[in-house]
Amino acid sequence: MSRINEIIVKYDSSPSCLIPVLQEIQKEFNYLPEEALDAVSEKLGVPLNQVFSVATFYNAFSLDPKGKFVIQVCMGTACHVRNAPKIVSELERLIGINKGETSADNLFTLETVNCLGACALGPVMTINGKYFGHLEVNKIETILREYQ
Ligand code: FES
Repeated sequence: MSRINEIIVKYDSSPSCLIPVLQEIQKEFNYLPEEALDAVSEKLGVPLNQVFSVATFYNAFSLDPKGKFVIQVCMGTACHVRNAPKIVSELERLIGINKGETSADNLFTLETVNCLGACALGPVMTINGKYFGHLEVNKIETILREYQ
């Protein structure tokens, strides 16, 4: 809680800083813990339902704990037709989880998204924001090894 309080104080407990405060908490913990939302609501003087609305509206925020490395695989049309589903299957097989899940060791979270804005590089995935394009199923294991 002390780290959360430090972040809130850094922004002068200003209600207008709700989004930057939540962004910094998200960055620090990789998700928004429930007690953080309570503290933000109380200290910024923003109703809890409003804090929740913002926290659930933006994709950048998560209310669930995530792994150290968040993998996002694009399933948009341009990537889908270039084998993105097989990329997801390979990641599920190698990590031992299904999409939407986090590995038991909290190392990886696997997500699918609709477009990563790099359609020409499809199929594309990101790991903590780093792009990997022109993916092939047989390259996935080597990429994952860099993070294990
Ligand atoms: S459809 Fe995959 S990056 Fe746009």
